Amino acid sequence: MALKAENVFKPGAYPEYTYVSRNYENTGISYELRLKQALRTAGCLTSLIGPSKMGKTILCEKVIGFDNIIEISGADFNTNSDFWAIVAAKVELPYQGEVTTERELNDGNSRESDGKKEKYILSKDKIIQYYKDNEKVLVIDDFHYASKEMQMKMAQQLKDAIRKELKVVVVSLPHRADDAIRQNADLSGRLSLINIETWKEKDLKEIALKGFKQLNINITDEVAGQLAIECLTSPQLMQYICLSICILLEDKNEDTVKADMLENAYQFTTVNFNYSDVVNVMSKGPNPRGKKRKLFKTLTGKELDLYGLIVESIAKNPPVMEMDFEILYDRIINLIPADAVKPDKQSVKNHLNNLQTILKEKEEIYRAIEWKDGTVYILDPLFLFYLRWGRIDE
Ligand SMILES: Nc1ncnc2c1ncn2[C@@H]1O[C@H](COP(=O)(O)OP(=O)(O)OP(=O)(O)O)[C@@H](O)[C@H]1O
Ligand SMILES: [Mg+2]
Repeated sequence: MALKAENVFKPGAYPEYTYVSRNYENTGISYELRLKQALRTAGCLTSLIGPSKMGKTILCEKVIGFDNIIEISGADFNTNSDFWAIVAAKVELPYQGEVTTERELNDGNSRESDGKKEKYILSKDKIIQYYKDNEKVLVIDDFHYASKEMQMKMAQQLKDAIRKELKVVVVSLPHRADDAIRQNADLSGRLSLINIETWKEKDLKEIALKGFKQLNINITDEVAGQLAIECLTSPQLMQYICLSICILLEDKNEDTVKADMLENAYQFTTVNFNYSDVVNVMSKGPNPRGKKRKLFKTLTGKELDLYGLIVESIAKNPPVMEMDFEILYDRIINLIPADAVKPDKQSVKNHLNNLQTILKEKEEIYRAIEWKDGTVYILDPLFLFYLRWGRIDE
């Protein structure tokens, strides 16, 4: 039976037909082999860190396999959770060592509670033994979702568990990540560190080439290359765009991806994303408190204040994830007529500082860009894509 587009391009799930293997830190070995090596190093904990949506979970699923992987999310734990109760429940093992039993142990030192202590330790060991006997690998995904306190508790439990050769991978985002793991003196010398990098154009291109081939859809290397630039280091965005292209082609009964349909496909793809509030907040900037802002007329006939100009300049070609101040400033200047009054550099910098302040105070989704050390960083590729192609209502 012929494959369906939605089974080939999977932006939200394991992409069986479009899985692409990447080279690990230019070492000539693949990420898959690196993770395999880490998992076979007895007594070590694997710490996998990388930016959002760069394939951390998919890599674990690929290497460990769906029969052996036991996925737990940092979000599954709250401050009172018993780590082992959750680890046991995931493999449907009964578990006796309740938190209350543990507390009794700490308070008193009667014989009775000594007896309970043994029972507790025994059941924890049994869980580890079950994982080992059945070749299960525990993956604690999105570790950063657990509270700091819980992270420390987990690290303590893991230290003991890896000595007993439980295989564990801890997955988290960079920066706010897993200090409880990587900075933990107790774990030093017992860690296998793997950093997941953002995607390069050649690997992204491969996703498109692989998938369209499976579906008997023609695409040139050049067009695939254009897609790779547009999807801004995100394999997930590539999967989204390719799926949109398939749906548009099916609708017209065509089987070739042509360059002149790409813009339409990009716009069609942005319907999946909702960043309109983020764009609004950025373009409006902080509350002007009754003060009138200076407006600039752009070459396309818009009237924008400096916040609007900054947003507009980020959206320009070519799409980049990092922009030096000078480049951003040039882009702004190029938005307005050559003979118009130009905003001065310091004032652009002040506006960027203000933007940084308001975005930092808001929810996670608003942290789509960051202004730091003279550079604007795009933290969320989907946001920039939306900014470039979404129908943004003022
Ligand atoms: N090796 C790969 N080959 C092809 N597509 C991939 C690959 N890795 C990831 N993707 C695509 O990117 C999507 C996101 O990947 P994944 O969920 O693994 O990211 P993540 O790093 O775990 O993200 P998060 O930090 O949000 O948990 C996948 O659903 C898939 O569409
Ligand atoms: Mg993940």
